[in-house]
Amino acid sequence: MRRRPGREEKPLYDALIDAQKLAFAPLAFHAALALRDLGILATLLDGGSEGLTAERIAELTHLPLYGVKVLLEGGVVCDLVALDGDRFRLRQLGQLVLRDAMTRANMDFTADVCYRGMAHLRETVTTGKPAGLRELGPWKTIYEGLSQLPPQVQQSWFAFDHYYSDHMFPAALPLVFANEPKRLLDVGANTGKFALACFKHDPQVSIGLLDLPGQLEIARQALTAAGHAARASFHPIDFLDPSIEFPPDQDAIWMSQFLDCFGEDEIVSILERARRALAPNGRIYIVDTYWDNQVHAAARFVLVMTTLYFACLANGNSKMYRSDEMRACVQRSGLHIERELERFTGSHTMFVCRGD
Ligand SMILES: C[S@@+](CC[C@H](N)C(=O)[O-])C[C@H]1O[C@@H](n2cnc3c(N)ncnc32)[C@H](O)[C@@H]1O
Repeated sequence: MRRRPGREEKPLYDALIDAQKLAFAPLAFHAALALRDLGILATLLDGGSEGLTAERIAELTHLPLYGVKVLLEGGVVCDLVALDGDRFRLRQLGQLVLRDAMTRANMDFTADVCYRGMAHLRETVTTGKPAGLRELGPWKTIYEGLSQLPPQVQQSWFAFDHYYSDHMFPAALPLVFANEPKRLLDVGANTGKFALACFKHDPQVSIGLLDLPGQLEIARQALTAAGHAARASFHPIDFLDPSIEFPPDQDAIWMSQFLDCFGEDEIVSILERARRALAPNGRIYIVDTYWDNQVHAAARFVLVMTTLYFACLANGNSKMYRSDEMRACVQRSGLHIERELERFTGSHTMFVCRGD
C-alpha cells in the first residue's frame, strides 16, 4: 500500500522540486557563485526594481551575451533572479548571495575548501579517514596543513572560522573576566584573535597560546604587530599526543569552537589535561555551537553540513556535537559543569567547568 506523507511533509509536488534542486545542487551552486563573482548580481542590484535586459547586463559587465544568458536563466530557476518580460531583477535570495556575510563565508568555504574533496565522502564513511583532504594536500589532518594552504583556500578557511567566533568574543569576555584571571590559557588559539581581544579587555592578564606551530606563528606575528607579545607565551603542541601536558596553574582555560575538531576520546584526553593544568579555583570555559539547541533552522543546517566537512576534509573523526554528547565528555574527564550559559550569543553555548 502506498504510504500517505506525514503531516510534517510537504506536498509531493513541492518535494519533487526539492529533489531536483538536490539533484542539480552542484550546478546551481556554481551558477550562483559565477553570478556573484562575475558581478552580475551587483549589476542587477544597481538596476533596481525596473530590471535590466540580458544585453544591457552583458554590456555593463563586459561579458559575452551567451554566458550572461546562461547564468541569468540558471538564476531564474534557482530563485536568485526574477524575469519580467525581457528584464531581469534581483530577488531576495540573490541579495543574500550578494550581501549576506554568513552566506558569503559559507559559499566561499564550500567552493574553496570543500568542493572537490566532498566527492570522496563515501570513502570517508567506509574508512573513517578524511579522504577528501588529499585534494588539498598530503596531511593527516587539515590542521597540519592550515598554514600551508593555497592563499585563497586559506583565506576562505579562516574567514569561515572567524565568522563563527569573532562576534561571540564581546559577549564572552565579561563572563571569563568576572573572576579576574591573571593567567589564561587559550587552547586552540588559532590566529590569536581571542588573545588580542583579552589583552584589550584586561591590561593585567597574561596568556599562553596553544596550537600547532604554523598557526602559532601567525598568532605571534599578529600579537607582535599589535604590541602585545610581551604578555603572551607561545606553546606549540599536538593535542593528539596525550602525553603532552598543558602549562600549569591556569586561572582560566579557554576553548572556543575547538573541541568539535576532535573525536570523543580525544576530547576527554584534552579535558583531562586541562583539568590538571587548573590553579585552585580555576575554571575551564568551553564555548561551542551545538546543533540540537539552535533556534534558527539556518544555523542547524550550517552546523550539520559543517560536520560533513569535519568528516571528509578535517580529520575523519570529529563533528559538530549535540550538547548532551559534550556534557558526557566533560563528565568522563572528571570535570563538573558549574554553570551553563545556553545560547549566550543566540547560538553559542558556554559550559563553565571546575575540576574540584
Ligand atoms: C576551529 S579552530 C578554532 C579556533 C579558535 N579557538 C576560534 O574560536 O576561532 C581550531 C583550532 O584548533 C587547532 N588544532 C586542531 N587540531 C590540533 C592539534 N591536533 N594540535 C594542535 N592544535 C590543533 C587548529 O590549528 C585551530 O587553530
